[in-house]
Amino acid sequence: MALTAAASNAELQELAKRHLWLHFSRMGSYDDGAEVPIIVRGDGCYVWDQHGKRFLDGLSSLFCTNIGHGRAEVAQAGADQAKELGFFTNWSYAHPRAIELATKVAELAPGDLNRVFFTSGGSEAVESALKLARQYHKLRGNGTKYKVIARETAYHGTTMGCLMATGIAGLRAPFEPLPAGGCHVPNTNIYRLPEGHTTDELVEAIAHRIEFEDPSTVSAIILEPVQNAGGCFVPPEGYFQRVREIADFYDVVFISDEVICSWGRLGEWFGAQRYDYRPDIITTAKGITSAYSPMGAVIASDRIFEPFSHGTTSFAHGITFGGHPVSAAVALANIEVFERENLLEHVRTQEPAFRAMLDSLRDIPIVGDVRGAGFFQAIELVKDQETRESFSHEESETLLRGYLSAELFERGLICRADDRGDPVIQLSPPLIAGPEQFAEIESVLRPVLEEASRRMAVR
Ligand SMILES: Cc1ncc(COP(=O)(O)O)c(C=O)c1O
Repeated sequence: MALTAAASNAELQELAKRHLWLHFSRMGSYDDGAEVPIIVRGDGCYVWDQHGKRFLDGLSSLFCTNIGHGRAEVAQAGADQAKELGFFTNWSYAHPRAIELATKVAELAPGDLNRVFFTSGGSEAVESALKLARQYHKLRGNGTKYKVIARETAYHGTTMGCLMATGIAGLRAPFEPLPAGGCHVPNTNIYRLPEGHTTDELVEAIAHRIEFEDPSTVSAIILEPVQNAGGCFVPPEGYFQRVREIADFYDVVFISDEVICSWGRLGEWFGAQRYDYRPDIITTAKGITSAYSPMGAVIASDRIFEPFSHGTTSFAHGITFGGHPVSAAVALANIEVFERENLLEHVRTQEPAFRAMLDSLRDIPIVGDVRGAGFFQAIELVKDQETRESFSHEESETLLRGYLSAELFERGLICRADDRGDPVIQLSPPLIAGPEQFAEIESVLRPVLEEASRRMAVR
């Protein structure tokens, strides 16, 4: 059935329920007549649904639309490119936009991260980086190095290789057995650091685990600058500098997974710049095009590239759409917007106001912690502020799915109420957001969290 642009909501609902398979979604929840949310249009920090209702996109459409919605010039750059060269692959060939974008990314990336391998998204970037690390070791005669150290509750994507690194039991269990090699260490959840323990132990756990596994079997360490799943865990002082030392000492490739934390999310081009460390590889996606077109990238240091740079060797890996010319043109136009509007500086200057607004909610009994960096912040919800007691699985289900998610959406705020770790609300607005949007977020969060406190009997 062909749909006209003016297809009625009833038609769209019926067809969505019949044919569309939403990601990470309980499709059964639409059986009782509940509407599938259908977003039809975006402009700046806002999107509109099929009924014409406006929402504040407080999560940048899953940490993607960094420059905001509705940028005609970025759309035009994609259209112009599609007319000139709609597609050619980076599989043995180059094209001008991929070359220009690789050059620009290398210029913006820290240190000697000068070599860019494009993918179609974040999971492919992580998958590619894990494979790159393994082949790098093999080429240097260390064929037994294959394991990857990652952190508990971290999300590194959903393909089978990525799942090896992803530390969320519920996402791993349905697909086990996974490829061998994933090893998990504690994350930097300082709010829940057990009494008597120090933050130094969190990074030393990486060294201990490498020793435990046998360094001759460990290929890579993969970490986000600020860990998303669990709710924006920031690193303790000196954490990443010590990771660098550990990686060097054990000859392990240090991958900074910046699928979310790059392109201004933390107020810098890359999260590694915010915390002043030098990874061997950065994985990125989402904000590289502000999601006007799909793209991801693996950015490797000269040292990682070196064994691939001569003779008959090649990285035995490729993805048809990696470096798609339309996405590359869109990425270049996206970066131009960043530069012209000084968006990194905007995030740096607005971060204190954004954070102060969220901190002002700490008087609400259910608000346990507020944490994060840049335009990437989380509120952890607790049963008791004093003891930091968290909700049981059933309580969390009642809180998040029985009330919060629907109520926030109903009141026009798209954000994330998540319980992959302890329950949190995450906010990550487009980087053009300012005081007006912060006030709007507060005007929704405050009454909703107060009501949540009452419903969950938190005092
Ligand atoms: C840190 C991190 N790595 C990898 C991924 C996977 O990216 P994608 O969903 O584009 O495959 C994500 C997605 O949110 C992510 O946050």
